[in-house]
Amino acid sequence: MFIAGNWKLNCNISEALDLSSSISNILSGKNIQSEVVLFPPYIYLDPIRNIIKDNNISIGAQNCSNHVLGAYTGDISASMLSSIGCEYVIVGHSERRIGKLESNSDIALKANNVINSNMIPIICLGENAKAREEGNALKIIENQLNESIPKNIQNNNFIIAYEPIWAIGSGNIPSLDSINEMFNMIRQWLLNNNIDKDTKILYGGSVNKDNAKELFSCENLGGLLIGGVSLKAREFSEICLIAG
Ligand code: PGA
Repeated sequence: MFIAGNWKLNCNISEALDLSSSISNILSGKNIQSEVVLFPPYIYLDPIRNIIKDNNISIGAQNCSNHVLGAYTGDISASMLSSIGCEYVIVGHSERRIGKLESNSDIALKANNVINSNMIPIICLGENAKAREEGNALKIIENQLNESIPKNIQNNNFIIAYEPIWAIGSGNIPSLDSINEMFNMIRQWLLNNNIDKDTKILYGGSVNKDNAKELFSCENLGGLLIGGVSLKAREFSEICLIAG
């Protein structure tokens, strides 16, 4: 399993160091097969990498620029992230699609940059509540797949995260049947694009230690993208231990 902790816009430096040290200490010496990756804000990546590096935990970034380099004040490029030891970058989170008006083509560009910098993009997809209620969820996600997955994908050089927008931070998760239905459609789309079944599909949205056990029973689940609970060292670590 792949267990990702998306810290979003949280923590000052001492909280960030405490949180990463606590997770690292709890998981230290445990025989965990899963890959655990922390996604703190950019400025904490380097110090956190030094804390977690001996404990088989990796770091990733929450975003990157759609540009490669040049006059883009405030941007952080994929190659900069790679140069400080990042292995993964989240692209297309719904909070950026909605809040920063990122389009599917922006997301494809970012994912492309991440792959070209030898890192793995976690490409987020998700429908809103209206689309779900109107029975359009599968269609919306298929469209996001068509438009936000770059052309240079190959087996295992990217990860998909299915995060229904209405599930993020709400305490509600879809039924296992509807997650399975969505995952089956995504898996079929991948197969149609010659991507084999080892490419991971994550679920994200209101994951906690109680629903994690059920989620792990979903066929096709490659792991979890965890927001709020990733700020709680003990609960996040427990999910990593449940994942095994
Ligand atoms: P949540 O966030 O776990 O707080 O719902 C998940 C995410 O936005 O990645």
